[in-house]
Amino acid sequence: MNQLVGQHVLSVDQFDRETLNHIFHVARQMEPYALRQKRTTVLDGAILGNLFFEPSTRTRVSFGTAFNLLGGHVRETTGKQNSALAKGESLFDTARVLSGYSDIIAMRHPDAGSVSEFAKGSRVPVINGGDGANEHPTQALLDLFTIERELAFHGKGIDGLHIAMIGDLRYGRTVHSLSKLLCLFKNITFTLIAPNELSMPQKVLDDIENAGHKWHIVEQIEGSHDADICYQTRIQEERFPSQQEADKFRGKFRLNQAIYTRHFQSKTVIMHPLPRDSRMEANELDNDLNVNPNLAIFRQTDNGVLVRMALFALTLGVENLVQQYDKDVVWFNNKEQG
Ligand code: NCD
Repeated sequence: MNQLVGQHVLSVDQFDRETLNHIFHVARQMEPYALRQKRTTVLDGAILGNLFFEPSTRTRVSFGTAFNLLGGHVRETTGKQNSALAKGESLFDTARVLSGYSDIIAMRHPDAGSVSEFAKGSRVPVINGGDGANEHPTQALLDLFTIERELAFHGKGIDGLHIAMIGDLRYGRTVHSLSKLLCLFKNITFTLIAPNELSMPQKVLDDIENAGHKWHIVEQIEGSHDADICYQTRIQEERFPSQQEADKFRGKFRLNQAIYTRHFQSKTVIMHPLPRDSRMEANELDNDLNVNPNLAIFRQTDNGVLVRMALFALTLGVENLVQQYDKDVVWFNNKEQG
């Protein structure tokens, strides 16, 4: 039996390299289903409780899509104000109730630690879709899966990687989870580009250091980097004490084709967890990069479906049964890859 059956997925701390390889192996097998070349009904009858108490587009929809692509059904609730949490119900009670209606739950919540607290009351596996500024394990998995694929294209592996992370490294949960996951590999160099106020939390720096990796902190995009990956982030304005505080950093870390050419190699892969803030004052990842073949952001979002399908298949123990429940796709389908 695989190690993930019946388990919660709360933090990247629970993964080792073997588990990652297994998740990615299953994720690759999901590609024909995600591309609608085949379909499967392996999870017919199963119900995902998709509980998003904080704004989300791609994480929420890709969890739901991934479950549907495996033949399962999705029940959703969005926004704290529309749920009994607004009436003072505890996370434990909500978990007790909703896990009675579902076979598995994906959950996002604005408070760090809240998804783990919820999981204590749940009778079914819970997958963390982001808990405040703390962690976003499924994003880190899809980011790592993308990094592996993009580097393979350049004939490289993840060991020896140089990654530049830019922007809000303090409140950005995706960079926390990704950095911790990269600690499982060898000889990683982190260039952390952020002002002092938005720097990577000490705890994550300690993890990087304890794993024997190198990190440098710079306050601005400067000099030229031999980074393999440049990972841009959004200023997490919703997590600042005030809008005024957040506004101080708006537009301070723009990346466009000219800046990219000046500071990165011509093959540096550009990533962003999305959403990118495309408002004029922020514009952290300019549309002029859309034609740059190294822009991997939409490959990341497509990969998110594969990785989330793999996690559902593994936690529900059907990873070896998917093909047995294959069906034909009968509708018009000419989907391009991201
Ligand atoms: C990220 C998040 O919610 O942490 N988005 C996502 O899930 N892809 C990043 C962000 O909101 O900036």
